Amino acid sequence: MYLHGTCRQNELGHLEIGGVDAVSLAETYGTPLYVYDVALIRERAKSFQKAFIEEELTAQVAYASKAFSSIAMFQLAKEEGLSLDVVSGGELHTAICAGFPVEKIHFHGNNKSRDELKMALENEIGCIVVDNFYEMKLLEELGQELSKQVKVLLRITPGVEAHTHDYITTGQEDSKFGFDLHNGQADEAVKRVLESEVIELLGVHCHIGSQIFDTAGFVLAADKIFLKLNEWRESFGFISTVLNLGGGFGIRYTEEDEPLPATEYVEKIIQAVKENVARYEFDMPEIWIEPGRSLVGDAGTTLYTIGSSKHVPGIRDYVAVDGGMSDNIRPALYQAKYEAASANKMSQSHDQTVSIAGKCCESGDMLIWDIDLPELSQGDLLAVFCTGAYGYSMSNNYNRIPRPAVVFVEDGEAQLVVERESYADMVKLDLPYQSKVKSST
Ligand code: LLP
Repeated sequence: MYLHGTCRQNELGHLEIGGVDAVSLAETYGTPLYVYDVALIRERAKSFQKAFIEEELTAQVAYASKAFSSIAMFQLAKEEGLSLDVVSGGELHTAICAGFPVEKIHFHGNNKSRDELKMALENEIGCIVVDNFYEMKLLEELGQELSKQVKVLLRITPGVEAHTHDYITTGQEDSKFGFDLHNGQADEAVKRVLESEVIELLGVHCHIGSQIFDTAGFVLAADKIFLKLNEWRESFGFISTVLNLGGGFGIRYTEEDEPLPATEYVEKIIQAVKENVARYEFDMPEIWIEPGRSLVGDAGTTLYTIGSSKHVPGIRDYVAVDGGMSDNIRPALYQAKYEAASANKMSQSHDQTVSIAGKCCESGDMLIWDIDLPELSQGDLLAVFCTGAYGYSMSNNYNRIPRPAVVFVEDGEAQLVVERESYADMVKLDLPYQSKVKSST
C-alpha cells in the first residue's frame, strides 16, 4: 500500500496523517471525515513554483479551486503565493470571504452570467478568461456601464486533447469551451477584442485535459499557440504578454498511475515556451498554469466507519461505510479507482477481499470493488486515499445525507475547516406547503 505525504503507520498500528492519529480524528470529528495533509499541499505548491523561480521567470501558478474550495483552502493558497482560478460567483465569493488578493483571481467558465461578470468587475479581479462572443459582448457593455477596464485572456481550443498517457490532435475540437484555433473563431475573437475600448487583451489560455501523465500534449499545445501568435502579430500587431497552459497534471490514485513530478511538467512547459520564443523572436511571455488535482488530490483522505456487511456466497463480500457517492461521486460517475486501508488496523495482514459499498440508495454507489483489506467488522475505520480533489467539491445531499466535515492536519495538530452539515441544514431552505385543500371543520 502506498502512503502519500505525511501518512504513516504509528506505534498503535493506526494511520497517522500530519502527525495526528486518524482514530482520534474520527473520535473527535466523526465520520465520514475529509482530512487534508497541509504539509503535502504546501510541498506541491512549492514544487510547481520552483522552476519558475529558479529561472527567474514571471509566472503565476493558479490553484484551480474547483478541485476543493473552502475559505481555509483559499487562505492556504494565499499563504503559498498561489493565484486562484474560479469558475462561478460562488467560488469568487468564497475567495473574497477568504481575503484572497483579488488581483490574483482569474475567472473561468463557458456561461458566466451578467451578474457574475459584474461581481468580477466590481471586485476588480485580475483577469477574466473569455470563453465566447456572448461573454465578450456582456463584458463590453458592463465595462462601459461601470467605467472599468477589463483585463482578459481568450480561452482557445488548440485541437489537442490529452488524457493520462495519450493525447489526440483534432482539426476542429468538439468542445463546449473556448474559441477554436483552426476554424477562424480564435482569429475573430482576437480581432474583436483588439477593437474594444474597454477590454484589454493580456494573452491566451488553453486547458487540454485532466489526469495527464505526459508532457507531449502541453508541448504540442504551446507549439500550436505560438504558430497563431506569430500570425496575430503580423495580422493584428498583437503580442501576447501571458500564456496560460491550464492544468491537468496527473496524480497517483492507484499503483497503475504513474504521474511525473510537478517540477518535470513545469520544466518541459518552460522549455517549450522558450523554444517557441526563440523560433519566432518574441519576448518571453508570462507563463501561467492552473493545477487543481495535483495540488490537493493526494493530500486528501476520507475516513469512514464500517457498518453492515453482506456475504454473497461464491460471488463477493460487501462491506458498507457511512458515506459513499454523496461525499465522493467519482467512482459512480467516472469509475474512478482508489486505494484504501483500515485506519485502526494498519499492521494487520490483508487477507480478506471485499467490495466497499456506500450507503446511498443506488446499486451504483460502490466506492471500491474487490480490494484486499484486513478482516473488517462494524466500527472499524476505513481510510480512502487520494480523495482531496473533486471529492468534497462534488459532494451532494443525495438521500439527504449531510456533507462531511473537513479538517486540516499539520505538525501534529488538527483544525476543523468545514463543519459537518446537520439534519437542520438538510431542511433549512425548505418552505412549508400552503395547501389549497380547504380543511373541513
Ligand atoms: N483549468 C481549467 C480551465 C480547467 O477546466 C480545469 C479542470 C483545471 C484547470 C484543473 O484541472 P486539474 O489540474 O484539476 O486536472 N471532476 C473531474 C475533473 C474535472 C476537471 C475540470 N477542469 C474529476 O473528478 O476528475
